[in-house]
Amino acid sequence: VERVFSGIQPTGNLHLGNYLGAIINFVKLQETHNCLYCVVDMHALTQPVEVWGGPAGLAHNTREVTAAFIASGIDPKKHIVFNQSQVHEHAELTWIFNCVARVGWLNRMTQFKEKAGKDRENASVGLYDYPVLMAADILLYRATHVPVGEDQKQHLELSRDIAQKFNNDFGDSIRSHGHDDGMFFPLPEPLITGPATRVMSLRDGTKKMSKSDASDNSRINLTDDADTIAQKIRKAKTDPEPLPSEEKGLETRPEADNLVGIFAALSGRSKADVLREFGGGQFSNFKNSLVELCIAKLSPIASEMKRLVADPGHIDAILVDGADRARAIAAETMKATKDIVGFVRKS
Ligand code: AMP
Ligand code: TRP
Repeated sequence: VERVFSGIQPTGNLHLGNYLGAIINFVKLQETHNCLYCVVDMHALTQPVEVWGGPAGLAHNTREVTAAFIASGIDPKKHIVFNQSQVHEHAELTWIFNCVARVGWLNRMTQFKEKAGKDRENASVGLYDYPVLMAADILLYRATHVPVGEDQKQHLELSRDIAQKFNNDFGDSIRSHGHDDGMFFPLPEPLITGPATRVMSLRDGTKKMSKSDASDNSRINLTDDADTIAQKIRKAKTDPEPLPSEEKGLETRPEADNLVGIFAALSGRSKADVLREFGGGQFSNFKNSLVELCIAKLSPIASEMKRLVADPGHIDAILVDGADRARAIAAETMKATKDIVGFVRKS
């Protein structure tokens, strides 16, 4: 069975974009793959402390992302749910990959440029190195499939480049250690699927829905209550035209396109199918149905998250158990990697 790995940062405000771009696909893949789902707390540290909320905020957000995984239907017994910092091999493999990755490759990462902003001199070294840690996350488990939202595509390409360069640089050693095809690390494939791989802000159809947007009305948080969800959708920016009956009518209407995509993803239908039902009708009718759908899908998750977060001991036990099982795989990869590189170790 193929192995899936993905991660979410515990930086607060988990939103509908995280759910539709990532978590909903995590849930589905459980049926066909062995999955590891990781709360990437070491990635959270790459941003300024206000973003991840300091030590208390980090611990709380780590438990909240874990609760979101479980409340959404991820089974931590059948699959592995853990937080990154409990498996030190992530940091260890990152060092080796730092020496494989090229400065030029990292210089091309658009997310670094966006997150670092104008004051690049003052960005953390960790933020710059973030995609290398991400490659280590995936390749430590030799995962082949990585479900993510559209914004992670470039980072996945970098992971492939690192895997490939490692395999080339150490080809002879890899073969002499029993991997006859010279492919120690597989080249991981991104799984960017569904009608909502890039959910946009409710206030501006050209901006991504994001945890860090100053306006809470720009996003639907997984913890929002029914009234808040209804209000945010009713206030969501739209144009005055009724919905078109075909998808190409959405091309120049980013806000309408976004809401149709959200409807499709939440209902498990295609955008074309949604437009067949709502095309030509009043926008307010569509919004009312979207409000109902959102509340029906998200409220049970919100209340289950609340219940789970109220018992941090239980969540921590899940993370410890997941980390133990993750470490068993990671330790094997790390030993083999050290042998391939030529690091002397206790056998
Ligand atoms: P992050 O919150 O940056 O850790 O992202 C966690 C996952 O959610 C990643 O797979 C992202 O690609 C995905 N994601 C974040 N924002 C969005 C969005 N607006 N639309 C779709 N997917 C998203
Ligand atoms: N960089 C991802 C994000 O911000 C989170 C992440 C870290 C990740 N490590 C990963 C995603 C490994 C997939 C695989 O969304």
